[in-house]
Amino acid sequence: MTSDEVLRLPDDAVLIVGAGLAGLFLALKLAPRRAVVLSPSPLGERAASAWAQGGLAAALGPDDDPELHAEDTIAAGAGLVDPVVAALIAREGPARVLDLLALGVPFDTTDDGHLALSLEAAHSRPRVARVKGDLAGKAIMEALIGATRAAAHIDVREGLAMSALLHDGHGGVGGALCVDKDNRTVRVEARETVLAVGGVGGLYRVTTNPVSAQGVALAAAAHIGATIADPEFVQFHPTAIDIARDPAPLATEALRGDGAFLVDRAGRRFMADYDAQGDLAARDIVARAIHSEIAAGRGAFLDARTAVGAHFPDMFPTVFAACMSAGVDPRAMPIPVAPAAHYHMGGVATDLWGKTSASGLSAVGECASTGAHGANRLASNSLLEAVVFAWRIAERLRSDTDAPPRKTAARPAPCAPSDVIDTLRKRMSAHAGVVRDAQGLSETAGWLADAIAAHGAANPLTAAQLIVTAALARRESRGGHFRRDFPAPGATAVRTFLSAPPLADGVTP
Ligand code: SIN
Repeated sequence: MTSDEVLRLPDDAVLIVGAGLAGLFLALKLAPRRAVVLSPSPLGERAASAWAQGGLAAALGPDDDPELHAEDTIAAGAGLVDPVVAALIAREGPARVLDLLALGVPFDTTDDGHLALSLEAAHSRPRVARVKGDLAGKAIMEALIGATRAAAHIDVREGLAMSALLHDGHGGVGGALCVDKDNRTVRVEARETVLAVGGVGGLYRVTTNPVSAQGVALAAAAHIGATIADPEFVQFHPTAIDIARDPAPLATEALRGDGAFLVDRAGRRFMADYDAQGDLAARDIVARAIHSEIAAGRGAFLDARTAVGAHFPDMFPTVFAACMSAGVDPRAMPIPVAPAAHYHMGGVATDLWGKTSASGLSAVGECASTGAHGANRLASNSLLEAVVFAWRIAERLRSDTDAPPRKTAARPAPCAPSDVIDTLRKRMSAHAGVVRDAQGLSETAGWLADAIAAHGAANPLTAAQLIVTAALARRESRGGHFRRDFPAPGATAVRTFLSAPPLADGVTP
């Protein structure tokens, strides 16, 4: 297939597909090696990182220790966290927070000048570094965008969205095939490519992610035969604000860390019925509890009137603005909440240095599956994992400049019509969401097969197919994956690894 334009990167330049926290931090840390960053939108727009409210978890408090952080990470992950990775992110996290401070991120400090650290669910210590309550993601992205624009070794190309990976048919990657805003194809050739494109939340009707997060990395990597890990593990945030917005605004877990609690429509606190840790139980437990309350017709609301009250505009400005825009004054009334697809624990499988199974291809951030999060990610560990692995990929690629040129090809993935994507999102929320069963998953698998036969293997359909296939095969409940027909965990905890031969799509490199 011919492309409308070819962009051949210099031999030493690394192609970074995606411009969220992981992509930009990696680009900055690669210096002096050159980086070309592709962003589908102007920098900072449509990047889930900028919407992160909680912050970045790191063992920085006087009574904390990376070992404790690793233990909490492993406990939250329901048997599937790789302990080596948990120890690694906990150990390297504090240094990466210092890196972000050096880049100008204005983390909150106490009166005596130490970092102010908050408590979030399932953490045994307060360890979440925040910015002005709920503005961590926005502040981190502002600092990184400023540094990126000023960096001579980084070239940012805005308006290019990846459609497929350029591959040699034998597990080697040589760049990405992109589509620009005028729908022209651009072939971006590079010796090293890093996927940093975010997750899959947009495959669901109710999500806290940008709707454009529809699993492009998962689909493109699977298409070329790279190993995919744990695709069935999607995390549902318990407290998206239920005001009929798409995407749904988040009410950060830090609200419950600060004493807000969940009630039903009658004002009854219900979390003690579900877990001894009550409102601070692990995220999957709280999400299922809220799902049950809503399904039973009792509704679910977050009551922060006493815990936050008049301080709302200063302490949680993003949540406050979202609520007020829908006529909900959280100082005076409980906030209506519902679970929403929030984070993908699964993704393109990587090793401890961010390498995928395909040569010349790395992955970082939400689209990667490093083993850090298992079946259920601990709150605020996502930004942590992103910076730790971005730093490790930069370390590796700064010294490893020997990737060979490859003769590669690709076809742009087909686009599914918007009504098909709407139906997909509804089906995923209904059948591959907080509560799943064989019947709903099988029906969705059949619908996906028909949709692919009719419209081709569009990336959102392929990504959804990976999630649904693995969810159907996992006949147990674990972390974020709950099967009402198999409600107990299996006897052994085993991660999912899928790898198929490169799809025969008629491309002959
Ligand atoms: C939150 O602030 O509740 C979300 C943070 C996270 O996803 O870790």
